[in-house]
Amino acid sequence: MSDLQHATSPSGTRPPTGDDEARALVERLAEPCTGRRGALLPLLHAIQHEVGWIPDSLVPFVAHALNLSRAEIHGVITFYPDFRRRPAGRHVVKLCRAEACQARGGAAIEAAAADRFGVAMGETRPDGQVTLEPIYCLGLCATGPNALVDGKPVSRVDAARLERIAAEIAA
Ligand code: FES
Repeated sequence: MSDLQHATSPSGTRPPTGDDEARALVERLAEPCTGRRGALLPLLHAIQHEVGWIPDSLVPFVAHALNLSRAEIHGVITFYPDFRRRPAGRHVVKLCRAEACQARGGAAIEAAAADRFGVAMGETRPDGQVTLEPIYCLGLCATGPNALVDGKPVSRVDAARLERIAAEIAA
């Protein structure tokens, strides 16, 4: 197995079908956090962990479970880049956009990655093979520019490393 493949890839997950399934999923995941302050973020993380993304169809059930408005929930989902509103590709490549990596050529790497992988930042390639996303500091600032490829950190990303990542994605 490629070292880019791992069990936590969000591909292969499916959203609940129908209101009954959606309600049951949200109620099950909300149970540990219901009544607690700040329950929304843990619930959204739990949904994303289980489904792989946060379908809009679940928002009304989240609102009901936590007694919040749909607008509040949409606001949180759209504020945090970690929350996905669409399924991710089979491989997820996150490139660091924080200051130290930018100072080490992060913007050029981002452009090269978009070109090499054939997908714009924040998008999933039409074949579903790769999603390119920003991330904001991995705590590895001295070895930037950094990436997170299917959850694994890759430091000192350059053209050669992008090529290796592209080859593994294509494998
Ligand atoms: S700025 Fe990129 S890892 Fe810290």
